[in-house]
Amino acid sequence: MVLSTFIAVAIAWSGPGMRAPVSRVAGAQMVAADIAVGVKRNPNMAKLQAGYLFPEIGRRRNAYLAAHPDSRPIISLGIGDTTQPIPTHILGGLEGSAKRLGTKEGYSGYGAEQGVGDLRAKIASKLYNGLIEPEEVFVSDGSKCDIGRLQLMFGNAVVSAVQDPSYPVYVDSAVMMGQTRPVDSATPQGQHPGIVYMACNPSNNFFPDLSNTPRADVIYFCSPNNPTGATASREQLTQLVQWAKKNGSIIVFDAAYAPFIKSAGTPKSIYEIPGAKEVAIEVNSFSKYAGFTGVRLGWTIVPSALKFADGTPVRNDWNRVMCTIFNGASNIVQGGGLACLDDEGLEEISTLIDYYLDNAKLLRETMEALGFTVHGGADAPYIFVDLKGKSSWDMFSHILETAQVVTIPGAGFGPGGEGFLRLSAFAPRAACVEACERLTAMFKQ
Ligand SMILES: Cc1ncc(COP(=O)(O)O)c(C=O)c1O
Repeated sequence: MVLSTFIAVAIAWSGPGMRAPVSRVAGAQMVAADIAVGVKRNPNMAKLQAGYLFPEIGRRRNAYLAAHPDSRPIISLGIGDTTQPIPTHILGGLEGSAKRLGTKEGYSGYGAEQGVGDLRAKIASKLYNGLIEPEEVFVSDGSKCDIGRLQLMFGNAVVSAVQDPSYPVYVDSAVMMGQTRPVDSATPQGQHPGIVYMACNPSNNFFPDLSNTPRADVIYFCSPNNPTGATASREQLTQLVQWAKKNGSIIVFDAAYAPFIKSAGTPKSIYEIPGAKEVAIEVNSFSKYAGFTGVRLGWTIVPSALKFADGTPVRNDWNRVMCTIFNGASNIVQGGGLACLDDEGLEEISTLIDYYLDNAKLLRETMEALGFTVHGGADAPYIFVDLKGKSSWDMFSHILETAQVVTIPGAGFGPGGEGFLRLSAFAPRAACVEACERLTAMFKQ
């Protein structure tokens, strides 16, 4: 738009109910940022107490760098983002499907919203050992997106329960949906009224006391856990499924870190627990399996046996959501997913996971040697360090300023995370080694 027309439109605009645009003309320049439209802000957005955690960490890191331009390079043990290249066989799958798009025979446009049939079948057989059926698998662009879409399906009338601390997406998306009330003076610090917070800490071995947990409609449960690194045992998951059955609740089981489980007997999927198909949805993703954080491919299992109170299969509504606001995962990327599940791909995934688990061991041993009590870091890529009552944001800043290492303050995962620091094992090995040296130098002083 030509600037003069833009100014004229802005000055003439004064529709009913609209807030008059605040325009400022500085010389010939209009400051567009000062213009407000007449649309009311979604009040649920205003209920969010802070920006999303990970961009906030990035903001603080950049602020440090701006204030200390001569700083040695910062090492990130922060956001759980993969760093190792995609292995050869899996990459071949991506390349192959990209190349097919350049041929008349191989070209494809929109695909099925639920994902390519072969990939759904392969996920069911290779990752779930036939415990679930291909039509119960919904392929997507990642589990974070699926959690948001699940909230849309559940709507604003449900009560959600979360582990405290937990991956922030469960709470933030519940707030955005309108499941919570505004924070008031009676609200416990850091909580949203309307959410059931299930304390998970060393005193209960990071598994909630279900006998004292109020009923919730939807319970988000993550194992191996982000951020605590705790994995739930078969007995614990059996208790969870029984609790959901007794209360008529739905479990949303987040298994994004399942391949990190190497201990025999620890379930990788909620469907290893008898009866789970009547009460549980599982979200999962290739992000951490195969370094697909940027590639984007995940899946959600909605068993046919899972039904809402009126008897409607949850699967039907999930299918409706996916068909309406999702247009299918990228055809290129699904080729990569198929390669992940070939024997060679599974072998490559196992090697990648072992690499990150070795990093986790290094971080855990270093922090233990420095006298900290440490949780997680075995069967999980996260190390949860007990700060002995110190503030986690203070410790985050102290480590950034002294060792130039980025960590994540536990408080960012909910009030129950205060007093802990999360370290991620997804950095390259050399960076992990150097971070351990820097932390040792810092804490040994
Ligand atoms: C517990 C948990 N669930 C889901 C996700 C999101 O994964 P995706 O990349 O599939 O969106 C993450 C990402 O870090 C996570 O930690």
